[in-house]
Amino acid sequence: MKAYRAALLRFADDGSALYEEDGLLLIGPGTDGTRRVRAAGAWSALSPNYPGVSVEHLPGRLLAPGFIDLHVHFPQTDVIGSPADGLLPWLENYTFPHEARFADPAYAGPVAKVFLDELLRNGVTTPLTFATSHPASVDALMAQAQSRGLRLIAGKVLQDRHSPDGVRDETERSLADTEALIRRWHGQGRLGYAITPRFAPSCTEAQLRGAGELAAKYPDVWIQSHVAENRDEVRWARELFPHARSYLAVYEGFGLMRERAVYAHCIHFDDDDRALMRDTGAAAAVSPTSNLFLGSGFFDYDGAQRVGFRYGLASDVGGGTSFSPFHTMLAAYYVGREGQTKPGVSLSPQNLWWQHTAGAAQALGLEGVIGNLQPGCEADFLVLNPQATPLLARKVANARNLDELLFSLIVLGDDRLVERVYVDGMPADDS
Ligand code: GUN
Ligand code: ZN
Repeated sequence: MKAYRAALLRFADDGSALYEEDGLLLIGPGTDGTRRVRAAGAWSALSPNYPGVSVEHLPGRLLAPGFIDLHVHFPQTDVIGSPADGLLPWLENYTFPHEARFADPAYAGPVAKVFLDELLRNGVTTPLTFATSHPASVDALMAQAQSRGLRLIAGKVLQDRHSPDGVRDETERSLADTEALIRRWHGQGRLGYAITPRFAPSCTEAQLRGAGELAAKYPDVWIQSHVAENRDEVRWARELFPHARSYLAVYEGFGLMRERAVYAHCIHFDDDDRALMRDTGAAAAVSPTSNLFLGSGFFDYDGAQRVGFRYGLASDVGGGTSFSPFHTMLAAYYVGREGQTKPGVSLSPQNLWWQHTAGAAQALGLEGVIGNLQPGCEADFLVLNPQATPLLARKVANARNLDELLFSLIVLGDDRLVERVYVDGMPADDS
């Protein structure tokens, strides 16, 4: 067993933050071979219970759950910052040509390594990520994640139409490849598989039907896709699937809406779509830096809270502009605040942080496993240094309460805050 003494941030079941200025986090072996949080709370209350345990004292530091990135594209690591006139030209001109390179495993492997290094440097310990349509791109990423002991969920992209040579797959083969990858990787250690139709316009009905059949056959496998990101995309989806009530309803029609289904963006929704999200247990991956960069629109937090469906935060790199959860949380604040095209809300810093940790875990059906530091959670956690920059040190010294502290970190923070990252209770290496 090993204990850490520092300020400690956790979340209660209702999403509010629990904060100890002088806290103790005790890590020990779980029953399944992973390391788990054994106790967490005030140093003064807990330390007498563990007299023999070695304690590392980290004065001035903050222990916090590792962040979860609810939607990201590992093969788009080098696509970040490619400007375009919106989503569809961006896909055509930058993204598809780049993803075609991942047909070569010798190309995919090193990018997988850079991607995981970058996530960890920024304090992200679990991504739900797209690979490309090439099965070997999944193998490359899963193998890298496995060697580091990471909890990671990924899937081979399904796109058998409206996609150029080099990334387009073939219906029957794509479904057989998906099933083979599920059997190879899902549940291996902390790895999970996600059935990954790129978005309805890039998939034939047969491919979507097959994806839905796999989703029914493997109910604890995840599903990930995109929906209602951009008005041109919505129009196109409506033309291709004229009988569906809405773009989102296309996925429902093929059995692709259920718990553990995560849809990126969810911007251009009506209340029936929101109710469909709520009633099926699907979750939205809110991707604010991407939505601002590609000019897609603003996620309606008021609508999501009013109707009551699950959501959490995501980078959506490479449409998104940063791997940093701090940048994503700040962009989410901007998006929430926007009040001209939808009701504007001021998201609290506790809520923003929750959306990237315990809230994202709930969206994945992994509450109590990751995204929190309550007893029983897996030991993926961060040591943050709130004095990492001169301006942060000044701001933090003047913070009068938890909200002011967390807001200072969200507005001024980046990878410099992340002093150490623990994966399964061990310092993350970059091998
Ligand atoms: N819609 C379909 N594919 C993509 C993608 O790669 N990125 C984003 N942001 N939207 C998509
Ligand atoms: Zn995306």
